[in-house]
Amino acid sequence: MGVDLAKIALDVGPKFPQVVVLVGATGDLSRRKLLPGLFHLVTAGFIPAWRIIGVSLDNIDVEAFRALTRAALTEFSGRKITDSAWATFSDSLDYVPMSAGGDALKQAVERAETSLGSESRRIHYLSVPPNAALSAVHLLAEAGLIERSRVIMEKPFGTDLASARQLNSRLHEVFDEEQIFRIDHFLGKEAAQNILAFRFGNGLFEPIWNRNFIDHVQIDVPETLGLGKRSGFYEQTGAFRDMVVTHLFQILGFMAMEPPTALEPSPINEEKNKVFRSMTPIDPRDVVRGQYVGYRSEEGVDPESDTETFIALKCTIDNWRWAGVPFFLRTGKRLAEGQRIISIAFREPPKSMFPLGSGVGAQGPDHLTFDLADASKMSLSFYGKRPGPGMRLDKLSLQFAMRDTGLVGEVLEAYERLILDAMRGDHTLFTTAEGIERLWQVSIPLLENPPPVRLYPTGSWGPKSIHQLVAPHAWRLPFERAWRDPNPDGS
Ligand code: BG6
Repeated sequence: MGVDLAKIALDVGPKFPQVVVLVGATGDLSRRKLLPGLFHLVTAGFIPAWRIIGVSLDNIDVEAFRALTRAALTEFSGRKITDSAWATFSDSLDYVPMSAGGDALKQAVERAETSLGSESRRIHYLSVPPNAALSAVHLLAEAGLIERSRVIMEKPFGTDLASARQLNSRLHEVFDEEQIFRIDHFLGKEAAQNILAFRFGNGLFEPIWNRNFIDHVQIDVPETLGLGKRSGFYEQTGAFRDMVVTHLFQILGFMAMEPPTALEPSPINEEKNKVFRSMTPIDPRDVVRGQYVGYRSEEGVDPESDTETFIALKCTIDNWRWAGVPFFLRTGKRLAEGQRIISIAFREPPKSMFPLGSGVGAQGPDHLTFDLADASKMSLSFYGKRPGPGMRLDKLSLQFAMRDTGLVGEVLEAYERLILDAMRGDHTLFTTAEGIERLWQVSIPLLENPPPVRLYPTGSWGPKSIHQLVAPHAWRLPFERAWRDPNPDGS
């Protein structure tokens, strides 16, 4: 029986036509993810009718914005772009430079709403750095665009506890909490949601998901990417604010939380926030900050910059489930490999009956590994007998690759998923003011007293001191054994 994809798309999409005001429309995130994501959502039929109004500091006209969008789709959309789909999308685009002010934006939104005819909703996507977020909010207020609207706020949300609190309180002067969607795109990744399915959809794993069975956890997101045109943003932000206080901590929340009472925004956020409340303040002695060689001579970077392009740290969650289990987090730019993994190391058996030299334990503890790529993977490694005489043990693994399901084409890219959820008013995969403020609070000792940055060569795994940080454990990456190719004969 055929599946009616168009019907499914409409069922999970918003009911009302959408006017999208995309602030920061010419920026890196917009070109890489938001414009290609919106293009996919509308061409796949998820949004019944729409108009998109780009806003940014660039004084360009609508034709230039269309050309920029076309170039962005060619460069960054992994999907096929037909001439007719592009013509429809291109027609739906408008552009208002920030300098034109609130009135011009208001008129553009009114034009869009008139052209949509029926009742529509507004979705404002603020793809701007933290120091520009408030002026964007003021522009929307000045243009009278708060009614019937929702606002998506990009991360990082603030730059420390005081600025996050201020941003929250100023936002609440303009928007109701119900209208605010603080995005963290890692929570929109299929693999992140699969952590919830894996943990709470099965009876098998939850009983061992605690300090009695788990020795330590690693959340490791090395990137080979450099900064491209983002050095202006990055120089002010650094790896901790860009990736850790945001994505890595949110993933840690999913990994470590108690079972929520329902798959709904309050129960999920309540449990995540409890984890954040139990996190102990980050001790700067448990942090390695790094900077790749050559960063200081890049355009837009201070020649004496102290910004970290790499960070590794140990966190602890002082509650009944996790007391004594270290969580090691690492991320950085221009590293040896691009990976996004959660690796859970289980405790080793208390006693071994196997003879010396049998190989038991020789290849590290048993691991459960999640690969957070769009086409995600999972692996459970364990010791098993090597076939043949005697008793030699080898590390074996059970592996699952999403490609095995034949449904990889159905995966929505993280931003697509979250934009759609925000258009439907679903807060489940968004972060809360309380959670974010708590994460800034545990970060205070590090932000006030950061250890000096240590240089590391590009293409490495970071400064040498990362090994002391995890000792007596070892970093899981680079993998000793590569993932199995789920499709070895390429069929
Ligand atoms: C972004 C960061 O939020 O996430 C980038 O600003 C980083 O610096 C990116 O490269 C990583 O996201 P993804 O989805 O490519 O893993």
